[in-house]
Amino acid sequence: MSSRAWTLPGIEHLKELLTPFSSTSSGAHCKSRKGIKQHGSVQSPALCDLKVRASKKATIPSSKRSSKRSSERFFGGIRKNSLKMNFFLEMLKVFALTTYYMLESLVFLFVPKRKKNVSGEIVLITGAGSGIGRLLSLKFAKLGATLVLWDINQDGLKETRSLAEENGAVRIHSYICDCSKRQEIYRVADQVKKEVGDVSILVNNAGIVTGKSFIESPDSLVEKTMEVNAMAHFWTYKAFLPAMIASNHGHLVSIASSAGLIGVNRLADYCASKFAAVGFAESISLEMRALGKTGVKTTIVCPYFINTGMFDGCSTKWPRLLPILDPEYVAEKIMTAIRRDQELLLLPRSLYFFFAFKNILPVKVGVLLVDFVGALHFMDYFKGRAKKD
Ligand SMILES: NC(=O)c1ccc[n+]([C@@H]2O[C@H](COP(=O)([O-])OP(=O)(O)OC[C@H]3O[C@@H](n4cnc5c(N)ncnc54)[C@H](O)[C@@H]3O)[C@@H](O)[C@H]2O)c1
Repeated sequence: MSSRAWTLPGIEHLKELLTPFSSTSSGAHCKSRKGIKQHGSVQSPALCDLKVRASKKATIPSSKRSSKRSSERFFGGIRKNSLKMNFFLEMLKVFALTTYYMLESLVFLFVPKRKKNVSGEIVLITGAGSGIGRLLSLKFAKLGATLVLWDINQDGLKETRSLAEENGAVRIHSYICDCSKRQEIYRVADQVKKEVGDVSILVNNAGIVTGKSFIESPDSLVEKTMEVNAMAHFWTYKAFLPAMIASNHGHLVSIASSAGLIGVNRLADYCASKFAAVGFAESISLEMRALGKTGVKTTIVCPYFINTGMFDGCSTKWPRLLPILDPEYVAEKIMTAIRRDQELLLLPRSLYFFFAFKNILPVKVGVLLVDFVGALHFMDYFKGRAKKD
């Protein structure tokens, strides 16, 4: 609904409210639309204008005035009714489409969407030197994509590269890039554009974790966490999204976390960075829709703990309900989500129910649930990656 439709009756109402005052005080002082002094104060042109009209009104015979008022009331009523009608029609549209989309997802549960072909796509993966980034690189390699691998860890990158070659990749380009540094991201991005071409699938995967209580977390690590887990997404999008928009083709993948949907004890900076990543990715997705760039797809991934080493030492309270995930399983699910243009992927599935309940239940019940799943003690035995990694 246009904002104009909402503001018009507001102006009418304002006029009606002002009329009794205007008719008692003369608008004769208002000589021009610039606004002039009256009784020592400066009036706005709009108010002036209203007063002039009101003064004119005062000179109109009362029979004409009352017929004008009744016609204003009549048209005001029509406007109000059309507003109500618009609201009703839009609500109807929302209900109809909601039903349609619910049925559509039900159908897709039984008849999954076809997976898109990614061969020939230029896929950039940050943090490709280990864990999920490495596994995704190998999977894209098998599907014939051109790989652009970024990491800060040279040895890890070399290992991923040779594994990708074993998996059949022929076009691999690896770059040392510290994703916590905006200028470095822009510099390496320019190099990629010159040497490889426009990236069409961007996977923001690089991530770090401090793993301490907030007060114990060194400022430098808090900043680094925000830079790698969130800010790097801004700069990579700035570098590669314009080409995707221009060709209306591409895919933005944000490897966030379930910690981007719920706060966790002793993960304050990590959760803040992942909330930022989720909010950013969701907003860009809407921006693409608003621009009509439906060829630029988006996928946000929010997994629970994965057994990659990043969260070594962390435990889960109910392994059946919330298991520590196998990296291979997670990478496969991410690939499927990307290839089916799935917007949001939560892993494991139980998280969908958990987050739905968390958002509709009273806060105290939410905290109870958080405690039930063990989020107050997840990090008690956190070791994380050894320094040499
Ligand atoms: N492991 C988990 O339990 C878990 C759970 C949810 C989400 N995630 C997210 O999944 C992603 C992958 O995690 P993972 O488990 O594979 O961890 P990982 O530690 O195995 O991989 C992270 C990679 O990022 C790289 N990296 C770190 N800082 C960098 C920087 N400044 N510039 C460039 N590269 C940098 C590392 O060298 C490493 O190769 C991360 O974003 C992480 O936050 C992990």
